[in-house]
This record gives sequence, structure tokens and C-alpha cells, in this order.
Amino acid sequence: YRAAQVGTAVMEAGPSLAEQAIKLTVLYGSQTGNTEAVAGQLAEKAKASGIEVKLWDMAEYKPRELKNEQYLAVLTSTHGEGEPPDNAMDLYEFLNSRKAPGLKGLHYSVLSLGDSSYEFFCQTGKDFDERLQKLGATAVIPRVDCDVDYDDLAEKWIAEFVGALTSSMQASAAPPSASAAMSQLETSVQYDRKHPFSAPLLENQLLSGRGSSKEVRHIEISLEGSGLQYEPGDALGVYPQNDPALVSMLIDALGFDADSSVELDEQQETLTNALMHHREITVLTRPLVEKWAELAQSDELNKLMESKAAVTEWIRGRDVLDLVQSYPLADIDANGFIKLLRKLPPRLYSIASSQAAVDEEVHITVATVRYNAHNRERGGVASTWLADRLAEDATIPVYIDPNKNFKLPADDNAPIIMIGPGTGVAPFRSFMQEREERGARGPNWLFFGDQHFLTDFLYQTEWLAWRKSGLLTHLDVAFSRDQTEKIYVQHRIREKSIEIWNWLQDGAHIYVCGDADNMAPDVNEALIDIISQQGNKSREDATEYLRQLTRDKRYQRDVY
Ligand code: 2AM
Repeated sequence: YRAAQVGTAVMEAGPSLAEQAIKLTVLYGSQTGNTEAVAGQLAEKAKASGIEVKLWDMAEYKPRELKNEQYLAVLTSTHGEGEPPDNAMDLYEFLNSRKAPGLKGLHYSVLSLGDSSYEFFCQTGKDFDERLQKLGATAVIPRVDCDVDYDDLAEKWIAEFVGALTSSMQASAAPPSASAAMSQLETSVQYDRKHPFSAPLLENQLLSGRGSSKEVRHIEISLEGSGLQYEPGDALGVYPQNDPALVSMLIDALGFDADSSVELDEQQETLTNALMHHREITVLTRPLVEKWAELAQSDELNKLMESKAAVTEWIRGRDVLDLVQSYPLADIDANGFIKLLRKLPPRLYSIASSQAAVDEEVHITVATVRYNAHNRERGGVASTWLADRLAEDATIPVYIDPNKNFKLPADDNAPIIMIGPGTGVAPFRSFMQEREERGARGPNWLFFGDQHFLTDFLYQTEWLAWRKSGLLTHLDVAFSRDQTEKIYVQHRIREKSIEIWNWLQDGAHIYVCGDADNMAPDVNEALIDIISQQGNKSREDATEYLRQLTRDKRYQRDVY
């Protein structure tokens, strides 16, 4: 947590806490209303004893709040074969998912209502109890399971629970919030590019449909306990691992021993580890080829080095293994080889979520890079690692790479136009989550493009839901391969020239994310044409108008 939060927590842990009221959150899962009524009785009784009470229908309660709770009462009924009531379903699933947070500081008790003629008597209450305990929470008093005739037992549980709370309120020598403050202090380590956080993987789903020529994944990662904070528009830095198959091909080609020890940043590592985790082998850099040429004493390579363009051409689609195979070095050992390679740099992904909506999670949208070149199947190091080689319980070394120049307008009423074909749409999911949570009233317009409607409409259901709710004011899509002629986002933008110009007059901010080589320049051209035509400006003036928008931070691009 941020220093400011730690600061307040420490202050709260001062002597004044002894007089502070205990905060109790009462959650009920109720199908017909019986459990709800009991929850109401608990709330009344607790309030009368000076406890601060919040009473929640489980369906309305934000599960992510759980980790901020001090005292919790869970009251629930059970149905059918041990199923939770409808309104308890979401919370129940959340607690049983990998997203459930650690709940060390939480004190709780469970009251379950059921019918002992069923095999799975009071099962939902038992499940809640077990999960809360597994997540580290402490039971204040043991769970009570009530049969159909529940009144007396429920009343007794209420009295005991409230009694236990009030006595802990009086004897608050070591109040739970003090230990919460301590644990916040302990976790206030700073994670950054040099010190990445090992973040547990939560979700890894294929977004693109069967039959798509692309393979795009939606990945959710936990930042719980890291204190890492990000804003919409920021990127996530990911430290990947090289493909072990490629590593061993490389070691074989070099004729080295995989377990030989090499020096790496003043530490000893095995050659395999060094190549898997610490050195770049999938991207061939010009400085490496130059150093290699000096050592190789190959006439052919020396000849190639005479032309810059020829080197660029040779590098294209090749990697370190190609270099080793094409121009073998006579006198090099494992240590010398490692010294030639550059550090494996992190890969950056535009963040696809907002913390206002997902709290201590971060989502990214990753297109898997695979291609065949020079008679070998090749892949992007990070994207294939995420797609193919990541265990379900893996952790991913990550950090936040802020981007000051891709930010929502400070003014929530400002209109925004978002242009994001392919995975370029990622930050706009973050923008919409943020604006939704903030209740921002500014109009939002998305241009999305990809190959096919059926297989490549990334996050389709989310966009459509936001269209329906009104958050997304306009949605224009360009599916390039659903008809004979190509339709791209810039075609859709040109079709909407008048409206775009009007939005600009209303102070709209324009955002472009995605391909830098073709899409971004083409979109830029389209915008200049629109400004020139609709604003009656020369091309020069239109270009200047767009430049001014850039200076005013109303035209922002995140292209790669
Ligand atoms: P294509 O692959 O059919 O050419 C996301 O990758 C989308 O961007 C795809 O529909 C792709 O179309 C499209 N695209 C390719 N080149 C583009 C360009 N110059 N401008 C805008 N979109 C482009």
C-alpha cells in the first residue's frame, strides 16, 4: 500500500483506538427471506451494543471489499444438493476462486440455516466457514448450523457473537487494526523494473475464436500484496522465459555443456539458466552481429558487414541460433558467449484493466507471435511463454511501466475517441472500466478493427454491454476480411468525418493504440483529411491543428 495509507493506519493504531467502535459487516445469503430476517436481528443487536454495522445482501456486496473488513458475519441458507441461494452465488464463487484474497486480519463467524433431512445439510454455511478459515480468517465463535426450527439457536448465536465482539472492544490492547497496519508496513516493498513482483497468474483465456488466423489471449494477473498501482494507459512490464527447446538447440550448436557454470552479473549460474532467464536469444541485434563478425573471421560475414542494408536484411527473421549455425566461432567458451549477449529485456503490454474495477489485479491482451522463417518455426519470447509454457500456478515477474502520455482527460465530461484495432483495443477496455467506475459522463466512441467479426471481435460482449448501458456512445467496427475489399478503421473514421469534426469542436481527446508501421500513419492521414475538409483548412493548417492537439495532449498515441 502507498505510504499515505500506511501512515493513516499507523495513526489509527494509537491509543485512541481503545475508544473506537468495532466495525461489523453482516452478509446474508437468503433465498426466501428467513436468513435475511435473522441477519437484520443481528444487525439490530450489534448496533445496540455500540458496534458500527453494515448490513449487506451478498449479491450487492463487492467481494473485493472483504480484505478491508475487520469483523464479518456470514449468514446463509443452503438449497438442493448443498447449493448456495442465488444471491450468494457470486460471493461463493469468488471465495472459492483463485482470486480470493488472503484474509489474515479478518475475524468472523458463520450462521447457517438448513434442513437436516437433506444429505448436504447446511453445506453452504460449512463451505463459507471452511473457505474463510483457509484464507487465513479467524473464527470469533464457532459456526452454528440450524435446522428448520432455527429461532432459538440463531438467537443464541447472535447473543454469543455480539458478546464476543463487545468484550474484544473493551479489551483492545492489541486491536486487529494495529496488526493490519503492521502487515501493511511489512508489505510496503517497492517493486519496479529492477525488482519485479512475482505475480500469480489468475486467468489465461483464448479470446480469439476457433478458426481465427490469430491467437489472442486475455490474461489476468494478481498484484495482491505488492502495493503496485497503475492508471489506465500504463503498461505492464513482463519478464519472460526463453523456450527451453531453443535453449538446448543453441547449447548443442555451440557444443557446450548445459550445466557448465557461467558468470552472470557477478554470480555463478548454469549455462541453461542463464540462457533461459537472463539473456536475449530470440532477437538478433546489430551490435551482436558486429561483435560476432570480429571474432568469426569469416570472409562471407565480413563481406555482409560491408553493407548496412544487407545486415538488416540478414537479421530479419533470424535469431542467435542462426548466427551460431551460420558462422561458427572456433575459440569461444560458455562464459565468453554469455558475455556477448544482451540482457533479456522485459516485454511491455498495454494494460487492459482499471484498478477502480479490478482492484489488485492487472489484465493484459496478448497476441501470440508465431511464424516460420528460414525453415524454422519461431515465436515471440513472451507471448509464446504465456501461451504455451506457463503452468496454471505460475508466477510472472512484473512491474508497472507508467505512460504519462496516454491518459484519460482529467475532465470526466470531456468526450473521447478511441481508435484501437487488434490488441490495440486493450487500453480502451481499461478506459471504459475507469470511466464506468468514476461515473464519468463524457461521451465515449470506439473504433475497433480486425480480420473477422466472428473470430476476432476482442471483448465483444463487453463492448456490446457498454453500448447497451450507454457508457459507450458510439461503436464502429471494421472487419477487414469479411468482404472482398479491405475495410480498416481509417475507412470508418472517414465515413464519420462530420461527427468526428463536431466531437473535436466539443473538446474531444483522440487516442490511437496498436500498429505503428501502417495503421497509425494511415489513421493520422485520415484525421488530417477530416480536419482539412470539415475545417476548411489547407493541408498544412490541418497538420498544424493536429500538432496543436498533440501539444494540448488531446491527441495521444500508444503505438508499437
Ligand atoms: P488485414 O490483416 O486484413 O490487412 C488488426 O490487425 C486489423 O488491422 C486487421 O483487420 C488488419 O487487416 C488491419 N490492418 C492492416 N493494415 C492496416 C492499416 N494500414 N490500417 C489500419 N488497419 C490495418
